[in-house]
This record gives sequence, structure tokens and C-alpha cells, in this order.
Amino acid sequence: MAVAARIEEVRSDVTELAQSTRSAAELMQGMVKLLHERMLKYNWVGFYLLEPGAEPPVLVLGAFEGAMTPHTRIPLNQGICGAAASSGHTVVVDDVSKDPRYLACSLETRSEIVVPVFAHGKVVGELDIDSHFPAAFTPEHQALVQYCARLVGEKLEASRP
Ligand code: SME
Repeated sequence: MAVAARIEEVRSDVTELAQSTRSAAELMQGMVKLLHERMLKYNWVGFYLLEPGAEPPVLVLGAFEGAMTPHTRIPLNQGICGAAASSGHTVVVDDVSKDPRYLACSLETRSEIVVPVFAHGKVVGELDIDSHFPAAFTPEHQALVQYCARLVGEKLEASRP
């Protein structure tokens, strides 16, 4: 199946998942499974959530699919993950070996995308995806991952008004 068609299909499936799940936790669990299973180059898919009230702030590993990572708690001044959460912007790294911020999760990882999740205008977490392929996260993929992060933000807003 062509990449554009696969992305379209997965977008529609995550939309359905967002409608059928009752909580953000359930949505995140289903979403990491769906993305990991269906997008062949998404070799590690996980959410990090900001720990409520932690000072200094720290990202804590939530739902994920793929190999266990040593990075279960990441301060905002570390890693690609910290960069995305502290800036509030998507970070795409086409070659992780060339990015000094990169914290290694698997030796096989070649590229990574991290998209912040916003609820009520604030960063509350992020969706992190690693690929064994260089430059896997083209603009079409970025749009899909950003859409997924937005669905989770909306679900969080609906459950924590
Ligand atoms: N590579 C991330 C750390 C998380 S693991 O990839 C799962 C980073 O540089 O922040």
C-alpha cells in the first residue's frame, strides 16, 4: 500500500479510536499499539507525560510499544524529548547520531520525532516515535503524528475541564 493511503487509513482509524475510548489513558494505550503495528517504520512509539507538580519538571514514560527504554524519567533540559516539551514545538531528527541532544533508547534507532501534547494551552506531555530508518518522519508523517497528539490533548481537555 502506498504511504499516502496508509497514512490516510491510519488517520481515520485513530479518529475512530478517539471517539470510542472513554479516557485519555485508554486512547493513548490504543494509539501506541495501532501506530506501532500499522506504521512499519515506527519501531518505538510512546507517550511521556509531565509529572503533575514536579519541580523541576520531569517527563515520565507512559503508554508505549517497543523495547523497554532506560529513559523512564527525562528532565526538560535533556534529550530530544526535553527539547520538544520545553519549546512546545515538534522536533524531527533525521539522523540521531548527529544530534548532541539525543538520548539513546535503542542502538538501532536512526531517526526520531517528538510532538508535544497540549491541553488547555499548556504542554502536558508528548508523543515520541523512533525509527530504525533514517529520515523516516517526512512532512506527511509529521502531520499524522501531530494529529494524533492533538486527539490526545482534546481527550485530556474533555476529561479534565
Ligand atoms: N531519544 C529520546 C529519549 C527517549 S527514547 O527514545 C524512548 C530523547 O533523546 O529524548
